[in-house]
Amino acid sequence: MTDTIQKKLIEVQNLVVNFDSNEGTIQAVRDVSFYIRTGEIIGVVGESGSGKTVTTSSLLGWISNAPGIVSGKITYYDEDENPHVLIEQKANGKPLSLSERVFSDFDLTKKFKKIRQDEITMIFQEPKRYLHPYWTVEKHFQTIFNDKRNHELYHKSTPFLETVGLSPKKIWTLYPHNLSGGMNQRLMISLALARNPRLLIADEMTTGLDVTTQVKISDMLSTLIADAEDENRAIIMISHDIAFVIKIVNVLMVMYAGDIVEFGPAHLFYDEDQEDNHPYTNALLDVFYGRSKEAIEGDVPSSIDPPAGCPFRDRKCKVYEERHEEIGHFCENERPDKYFPNGERGHWVRCHKFKIEPWSDLVSD
Ligand SMILES: Nc1ncnc2c1ncn2[C@@H]1O[C@H](COP(=O)(O)OP(=O)(O)OP(=O)(O)O)[C@@H](O)[C@H]1O
Ligand code: SF4
Ligand SMILES: [Mg+2]
Repeated sequence: MTDTIQKKLIEVQNLVVNFDSNEGTIQAVRDVSFYIRTGEIIGVVGESGSGKTVTTSSLLGWISNAPGIVSGKITYYDEDENPHVLIEQKANGKPLSLSERVFSDFDLTKKFKKIRQDEITMIFQEPKRYLHPYWTVEKHFQTIFNDKRNHELYHKSTPFLETVGLSPKKIWTLYPHNLSGGMNQRLMISLALARNPRLLIADEMTTGLDVTTQVKISDMLSTLIADAEDENRAIIMISHDIAFVIKIVNVLMVMYAGDIVEFGPAHLFYDEDQEDNHPYTNALLDVFYGRSKEAIEGDVPSSIDPPAGCPFRDRKCKVYEERHEEIGHFCENERPDKYFPNGERGHWVRCHKFKIEPWSDLVSD
């Protein structure tokens, strides 16, 4: 990263997101807090269902089912570092009434919608969530550039379409249902880039695309990343593939069972010495570095009735097994606190292994 001064861009405090289902309440995001600064390219990794998409789409207020965001505060900081509270819902120890909950776009403030339109963009896993079914490609670009339908609009849009391998000539007057799934995904990426947002969230951006397009998009991403490091912006890259993201990000956020279990500068994840990392991160890295051929044993626990204590315990957590006498009781009964094992506030880990000597003098909050 360059020497540019980093500024806070977005802050999430105690975010809780639940969904109703016939089987019970799905606890999709369980009280997460973090902030993102300009110049950061953050990789968000974790197994399927760990809450990556729900956490990040909350930054746009984009939660599709009731009850949605149950509590938490999300604050956006503009270029002059002025805070703008996008969502603030207090739990107050009791469930929110229907009128207090965020269900959909309808409940969001005008300010939030304006900031979302101008400053924060998400490339979704499913293009359907982004593209308007009754708008042509031209109309999609028209709303971004706020321009009339004319040659200038066509010329402005052309580079963004060509970057993702789409021919403007062929698709300019077509609707999303005229295009294949892969073409819609590419269209969504080109629209997101055309918006030129301060915060770009890319959710499994290249999944399902052919190799040539993946290469083109990775090249384009390198340019964006260089810009992000120099300028007043940030990128969040969500991926199952820790091997892909670790090469391009400068910060990593590891999610497990609706919680952020580790957050910190990417260089802390390259090391063979894994003492300071979360056991779940280590298990992911072991597979990635070929130190273990086995996938992590067992399944992510149910998000409807999660176990007490640490949800990683039943995945044959090595540390839990090896240090059962010392910390087993905590792992079984208490949600781990946040610890700062390197003494750096920028790196924290939620694991009881830091509770007992030799780590007990670590900062936790
Ligand atoms: N609209 C919804 N209604 C009900 N449950 C949902 C909804 N969206 C997500 N969930 C549930 O919330 C939990 C977190 O989902 P999320 O999509 O954030 O996971 P993810 O980490 O992005 O997974 P993946 O890697 O498969 O994309 C899961 O249990 C999921 O089934
Ligand atoms: S809190 Fe306990 S069970 Fe959870 S990851 Fe740490 S050692 Fe393992
Ligand atoms: Mg997802």
